[in-house]
Formats: sequence, C-alpha cells, structure tokens
Amino acid sequence: MSLVQVLGARLRYAGLHPRALAAWAGTDRLSALPALLPALLERDLTPASTLLALFVAGREVPLDRLRLAVDLDALNRLDLIDIAGTSARARSAVLPIGQALLACDRLDTAPSPDLVCWPDDSSYHLALALPPGRKQRWLDLGSGSAFAPLMRPELTTEIAATDVNARAVELARHGAELSSVAHLTSYVSDLADEVPADWRGTCSIVSCNAPIPERDDDPYRPRWRSTDLGFIERLFAQAASCVAPNGIVVVHGAHDALAPVIADLPGERTVVVYTPPGARGFAVAWWVPGAEPRHVEAKRTLTEARPHLTHDDRIAALAGTLPAA
Ligand SMILES: C[S@@+](CC[C@H](N)C(=O)[O-])C[C@H]1O[C@@H](n2cnc3c(N)ncnc32)[C@H](O)[C@@H]1O
Repeated sequence: MSLVQVLGARLRYAGLHPRALAAWAGTDRLSALPALLPALLERDLTPASTLLALFVAGREVPLDRLRLAVDLDALNRLDLIDIAGTSARARSAVLPIGQALLACDRLDTAPSPDLVCWPDDSSYHLALALPPGRKQRWLDLGSGSAFAPLMRPELTTEIAATDVNARAVELARHGAELSSVAHLTSYVSDLADEVPADWRGTCSIVSCNAPIPERDDDPYRPRWRSTDLGFIERLFAQAASCVAPNGIVVVHGAHDALAPVIADLPGERTVVVYTPPGARGFAVAWWVPGAEPRHVEAKRTLTEARPHLTHDDRIAALAGTLPAA
C-alpha cells in the first residue's frame, strides 16, 4: 500500500465517509452541498465534523483540532493541506462518494478554464444511468475528477478515464489513489485519442457526461461546462470506435445537441429527457450499436424520491412505460 492509500483509508475511518457527511449536512448528495455550505461554515467544529469542515466545506481548521482526527504530518507531507500559523486549509476538496474519496477544486476556487468542477446533478445522472453487472472494460470520456468511476468502480475490471484538462486528470489520479481504486487509469486526452490502441473495439461501456455545446468562442469559458458545436458528433465517432460489438454507449448531454447525432446512428437508441418543458432540455442517451435498429425517445419527471435518471429508465423507455418525449 502506498502512503496515499494508507492516508485515504485513515481519512475514511476518521469521518470522511457518506454516513458522516449525511449526519453533518443532512444529505450525502454532493450536488446538494453548494447550497448548504454557507450555513455549514457557520457551525461550531466538533471532533466528528473536523475533516468534513476541512475537506468538504473548505474551512480553515486549527491544527490542534486536526491533529486529534488524523496524522497531520502525513497530510502535510502528501500536500493535502497548506499550513499557515496555527491553522490549515485543504489544497483541494476531498469528497466522500460511496466507498471512495473524490478530489476536485474547492467551492471557493476562482473560476478559470481549468477549474476541476464540483460534481453536480449531471454527474449523478450519468453515473446512475450506467448498466449494472460486472463487465470487463469501461472508458469514461471527459471524466473530470472521475466521479462516475469512483462512484461505481465495481462495474468493470478495467477502467480508463480521459480528460482534456490536465488538472482534472491529476485530481482524478489523486482521488483514485486515496480510494485504492487501482484498476482506474486516467489519461490527459482529447476524447479517446491517448487511450491505448488495444482498447479500440473492446469496451463494454463507453460513457460521457458531455460539456454543453454552445455558440460561444470565449477562450475563457470553463472547459468543464461548455464546448464547441461539433463535440457530440466527435464523441459518438470515437465511442463507435472504442465500444465492443455487444457494448453500450451512455451519454448525458443537452438534448438539442444529442438529437441530430442520435438520429443518424445505427442500432438501438434510447433517449430519456428529464428537464421540464420551457427549460433547455437535458437527457441521457443509451446507444447499443450492435442491437436491432430502434429509436425510442421518452421523458421522465424527476421527483424528490427519484431525483436522477437511472438505468431503469432505459428499461422503462424500451418497455413503453414512460411517456413519449
Ligand atoms: C460536464 S463535465 C463532466 C465531468 C465529470 N465526468 C462529471 O460527470 O462530473 C465535462 C468534462 O469534459 C471535459 N472535456 C471537455 N472537452 C473535452 C475533450 N475534447 N476531451 C476530453 N475531455 C473533455 C471537461 O474538462 C470536463 O471535465
């Protein structure tokens, strides 16, 4: 075990895990935290909340408090904190997700093109839309901090994740090591360009929570959020070359960008839109290139009890039990 793996296990043991997060914040849904953090920052520090305050809320924490929770020297040596005087701050957020720890930029990080984004609801839509059952190879394109692989590492025996943002790849590797997810390999890559050639045609799952194509040439737009208008077409072309003959491609994205590309694909296409009428539509698309040609478009209303799409929505759309989009 590496020192980082040991530290990750200690952090989880000492309170950086979803149950402790839910007890502290009222939810373990990471996408709900940005709205809750201002109030959480005001709370008194307790032994149980020290690591959450440091790594989730991004708060400055007195060293003597931190020392009680975890090996301070290890945190410092492994560059997880900056120490100033008698207190420390986390260099990046470290968020509990399932059995894993995810590293991304703190919520108070100034916007920049290379910001490594906090997981939002789109991250959950994509991760939960992946088909269950253990398979061999999964390629997650535009993986960011590797939310989906860290939330569902059990889905395959090998995972490759790519991102064009080198900082995102650095943090994805950090999260994977803290989580001892050793079968995840992350590449700095435009889509699948840098993935080893022997992955072509072999992936049981190819996934992407796509940035939003926009008519905007602003060079400072955040890369995690928006992209050029040709992105979805290039994404599906690369997915087609990587997916195994019996594999599936799962993409979360803007419906207006997905629709024209999906319309021209062979095989089975299932699209479920989840946004209400009047807002820009967002959807998950499942594509099985090797299946009989079929194209189903349905919609599903999100509820408090079922706030994200899941793979069950694909099954329901194919069975005709969801309303047409
Ligand atoms: C909406 S974010 C999704 C991040 C993460 N997968 C999640 O679900 O939280 C889109 C990601 O795609 C990455 N990206 C944008 N263009 C890309 C490209 N051409 N190749 C690879 N990644 C790209 C961004 O840097 C960003 O991390």
